[in-house]
Amino acid sequence: MTDPKDPRDPAYDPEQDPKVATLSDAPGKVPNELPPETQTITFHQRLERNATLLLVASLAVVTIGGAVEIAPLFWLENTIEDVEGMRPYTPLELAGRDIYIREGCYVCHSQMIRPMRDEVERYGHYSLAAESMYDHPFQWGSKRTGPDLARVGGRYSDEWHVDHLRDPQSVVPESVMPKYAFLQSARLDGEYVGDTIAVHRMVGVPYTDDMVENARADFLAQADPDADTGGLEDRYPDVQVRNFDGQDGVTEMDALIAYLQMMGTLVDFTTFTPDASR
Ligand code: HEC
Repeated sequence: MTDPKDPRDPAYDPEQDPKVATLSDAPGKVPNELPPETQTITFHQRLERNATLLLVASLAVVTIGGAVEIAPLFWLENTIEDVEGMRPYTPLELAGRDIYIREGCYVCHSQMIRPMRDEVERYGHYSLAAESMYDHPFQWGSKRTGPDLARVGGRYSDEWHVDHLRDPQSVVPESVMPKYAFLQSARLDGEYVGDTIAVHRMVGVPYTDDMVENARADFLAQADPDADTGGLEDRYPDVQVRNFDGQDGVTEMDALIAYLQMMGTLVDFTTFTPDASR
């Protein structure tokens, strides 16, 4: 049986199809539908029906869009605003940072205060790009099982950090943070810290030859209040020198606390005016 009103039928006749309005049905009005066989197959229809073509075209669009958004940041001068006080990490802080990464602290802690009121009121001035310019890799993170640590430096005493890292529940009973007591018995001799610094220099941190050569001495001096720290203080302004974990020798606990205690303390915000308000 043939049906001239059915578009799938070979005997289909658009004139007899009640769904097809033609100009003769309502003179002067625009027909609301064209017969299927006269529909132009536009480029877009072809694109949507060909998965490979669609994929290639989408990639092209995303690439152009991405390049337009990202590329200017490499040339704009104010991508990293100039701030006073930023300096590369000291060897001890850098070792602490490596422990921070090794222990996966970033899994629960972010290091980026967003420019929103609740964050600024809780943690302090929002993070600046310059504050992580010597971070390889950066530790911004997005998971906050624990609080943001970008400005934790100086907020607690060294003793508090030792107690907290050894047994977080001893100072914050409801804490879900794991215990890191073993850090206190893991000794560090700084044998490779010069290499670590050299690697960071390779990826763009402005460590000088002097800093690389004296890396191990600086490493040992920072945790030893009796050491001669003149050179260390010249190389790294505002360095905090003391026995961070309260026991003899340098341990991973010293390194980690040295790192935590300097976090967010370098930039002097009394001298900083954001670009937008200049
Ligand atoms: C399982 C998630 C988790 C991991 C992993 C973790 N923490 Fe925490 N951390 C927390 C939680 C939750 C808190 C808040 C309660 C407390 O103070 O213990 C916290 C609090 C802190 C605080 C106090 C922050 C403040 O402003 O009060 C510091 C410092 C800290 N953690 C450092 C570390 C370091 C360093 C590591 C890695 C060695 C680490 N955390 C790993 C969950 C975690």
